[in-house]
Amino acid sequence: MNTKKDKLVIFDTTLRDGEQSPGASMTKDEKVRIARMLERMRVDVIEAGFAIASQGDFEAVQAVAEAVKDSTVCSLARAVGPDIIRAGEALQKATAPRIHTFIATSPIHMKYKLQMEPEQVFAQAVDAVKRARQFTDDVEFSLEDGSRSEPEFMYRIIEAVINAGAGTINIPDTVGYGEPGEYGAMFKRVIENVPNSDKAIFSTHCHNDLGLAVANSLSAVMNGVRQVECTINGLGERAGNASLEEIVMAVRTRQDLYPVETGIDTTHIVPTSRLVSSITGFPVQPNKAIVGANAFAHESGIHQDGILKHRETYEIMRAQDVGWGHNRLVLGKHSGRAAVKARYEELGINFDDAGEFALVFQRFKDLADKKHEIFDEDLQSLVTGSEAPVEHYQLEDLEVRSKSGSLPQAQLRLLIDGESHRAEAYGSGPVDATFKAIESVAESGADLKLYSVNAVTQGTDSQGNVTVRLELDGRLVNGVGADTDILVASTLAYLDALNLLASGGGKRKGV
Ligand code: KIV
Ligand code: ZN
Repeated sequence: MNTKKDKLVIFDTTLRDGEQSPGASMTKDEKVRIARMLERMRVDVIEAGFAIASQGDFEAVQAVAEAVKDSTVCSLARAVGPDIIRAGEALQKATAPRIHTFIATSPIHMKYKLQMEPEQVFAQAVDAVKRARQFTDDVEFSLEDGSRSEPEFMYRIIEAVINAGAGTINIPDTVGYGEPGEYGAMFKRVIENVPNSDKAIFSTHCHNDLGLAVANSLSAVMNGVRQVECTINGLGERAGNASLEEIVMAVRTRQDLYPVETGIDTTHIVPTSRLVSSITGFPVQPNKAIVGANAFAHESGIHQDGILKHRETYEIMRAQDVGWGHNRLVLGKHSGRAAVKARYEELGINFDDAGEFALVFQRFKDLADKKHEIFDEDLQSLVTGSEAPVEHYQLEDLEVRSKSGSLPQAQLRLLIDGESHRAEAYGSGPVDATFKAIESVAESGADLKLYSVNAVTQGTDSQGNVTVRLELDGRLVNGVGADTDILVASTLAYLDALNLLASGGGKRKGV
């Protein structure tokens, strides 16, 4: 017998809660690139930001709302008039806009943070939902710190906000305190005790402070929840949110258990994970489920033997179903159309329109003239139209001496606006010496905020993928560089960041 399953709405908040990870700020263009990938993946709702937080956030929500057509685009708003108006304005051009308004309902938050009586919170929540409904029919209400709120108070407030027009009710585990059995049971009781609960979709939003965000979200699903709020790579405030890839693949792999199915095209998961990792500079740990480099690598001989005899002996999912490609072809100026197109297809990007591919291929050729090797992240930026920064700073050559017992020394030649400059410096390590040498001629005055190295592939011949985050006058940029020589990759990443600063890229701090 074929019983029809309920749809599980996937609400991605990488661009909002994910961006609240310390240091994970994204520019408007970067948010649009990620949003386009999420749309391709058929994410149902994309939370693009918190429109009132700053002008930058407002513009990012606006840009995502304009770019995305097939997913609902959402802005967060506190349960106060100015926030809701700002969210409504930012979403004006969205095909399917949603306002997500919230207020804390737990005794500890109401007393110490809001310094409000429960009845004031109740009235403000109802008022906020009514105001939001003036901008859109799609309004979500969140009871912040819901998992620590009094049940009777929650029942009353939920009934009232549904009557006021909220179609989605989110009960977050804001502080990651919940336990799967307890959190799931809470939803069951709420749904049973709120008289009009059948008029809304219930939603979960879990933080990972105890490493239980995915388990708690799935328990909520088992107890009647039909929307999960999650992020790519589990990014998010503090220890992060429930990871989208884990939720989606758990539901898909255990269709024998879950009463729901998602509409996600899972083959876009790995490319999207890579894109988010390269934009934020947050590496994905090798043993991370689904998207970690080792997630499908079988080391033990017994496992390999089993897999060769019958794949399902040790594999519960197929690597290609989540977008792991078979090869990592590095493209360059001699690569032809077929190779470039094939790589795009591996990344899950198909061109229906020959004209669109011709334009992207031309961009590829232009970039390949300036850049030796073209990576997946470069290919993605070409599709979404984000321009490579102007190359004010280019590396001519680099020599680094490092010997135990003596200070490392870097000597390099840089081309700055076409003029060659020599520089040398000592440092506490070879990378430090290299960056000091660059700064001795570039004199940018920028502060180094993050330096991260990742191996692109396995083995010691792998390319190092380096992210360098610089801050100058309140502006943050992430430069990236890749090479088999980590020092060269580091230099390229530093110069990329300088080029971004010089061409006005990046994002204002605190946005
Ligand atoms: O964690 C939380 O409670 C939130 C809400 C704003 C939904 O992020
Ligand atoms: Zn959150």
